[in-house]
Amino acid sequence: MSHPMVVDNMKSKLQGKDFLRVGDFTKEDLMELIYLAIKLKNKQKMGEPHRYLEGKTLAMIFEKSSTRTRVSFETGMYQLGGMAQFLSSSDMQLGNGETVADTAQVLSRYVDVIMIRTFGHEIVEEVAENASVPVINGLTDYAHPCQVLADLMTIYEEKGKFEGLKLAYVGDGNNMSQSLIVGCALMGIDCYVSTPEGYEVEQSIMDIVTDAAKTSGAKIIQTTDPKEAVKNADVIYTDVWTSMGFEDEQEARVKAFADYQVNTDLVQGAKDDYLFMHCLPAKRDLEVTSEVIDGNNSVVFDQAENRLHAQKAVLVSIVE
Ligand code: CP
Ligand code: NVA
Repeated sequence: MSHPMVVDNMKSKLQGKDFLRVGDFTKEDLMELIYLAIKLKNKQKMGEPHRYLEGKTLAMIFEKSSTRTRVSFETGMYQLGGMAQFLSSSDMQLGNGETVADTAQVLSRYVDVIMIRTFGHEIVEEVAENASVPVINGLTDYAHPCQVLADLMTIYEEKGKFEGLKLAYVGDGNNMSQSLIVGCALMGIDCYVSTPEGYEVEQSIMDIVTDAAKTSGAKIIQTTDPKEAVKNADVIYTDVWTSMGFEDEQEARVKAFADYQVNTDLVQGAKDDYLFMHCLPAKRDLEVTSEVIDGNNSVVFDQAENRLHAQKAVLVSIVE
């Protein structure tokens, strides 16, 4: 695959910018990040050094569990010649009542970039307002932009294009689907979002998506019917029915989502070469059967790998 643009001098117009929401970026920005991620992936595979962040430090604050986000950021910084610090909020003074604003200002005196995974999106925004270094959203209840960049990269690697594709999201209108449909609408992918009543994506997201779709020409459809969503789809995407922080609702959610399992019956409606995608971690045999997630159409581990490359592209682009 040849890529029309590479960022040779590693100076990006995104330098100094935060990475909080997919919707803060243009299609061109996202494309630039994807090309750079592919370039960095190739360098890593070829064993070519790419120490563009020599001497730089990333602080990673986690208020929720993580496997992929933690390990991919930490490994990514190491491969780029820098280092990352894992900070569990409960072990920080943040957990003893030091304010978010003070924490952001203090960390900015030590490190070159901050990543935070937390609950309310307003916390990430508060960190960004008070930090003098770029801030990356490692997942909030509202959004998961790092995952979507890796997902768009995976779709591009597999299909070689965005326009003309149909993506079906089946399941909860959560952080994952909210970021995914913004990303797809920006890139021109038609999106069918099927959720049970009461679990739809936020109206504010639909407004952003509708706006983005006007420019890209993407078609955006909300439905309660997963079969309609999956019909002729190029990509089927699902996520857990109960996200972190919503554990109290687990029982009600398992009932509400019973008809939204991605299984061999549902995927029959998709194109033969459809991609099955999931941000992981998966709850096997709830939102997806093992047969589907382990099947030939599944690219879930490519998505997980691409977190590393996509985030390295973000870091190289935004760190000053
Ligand atoms: N997909 C994702 O963000 O995974 P982790 O929760 O393991 O970081
Ligand atoms: N929606 C999931 C994504 C985890 C990466 C959650 O928030 O728990």
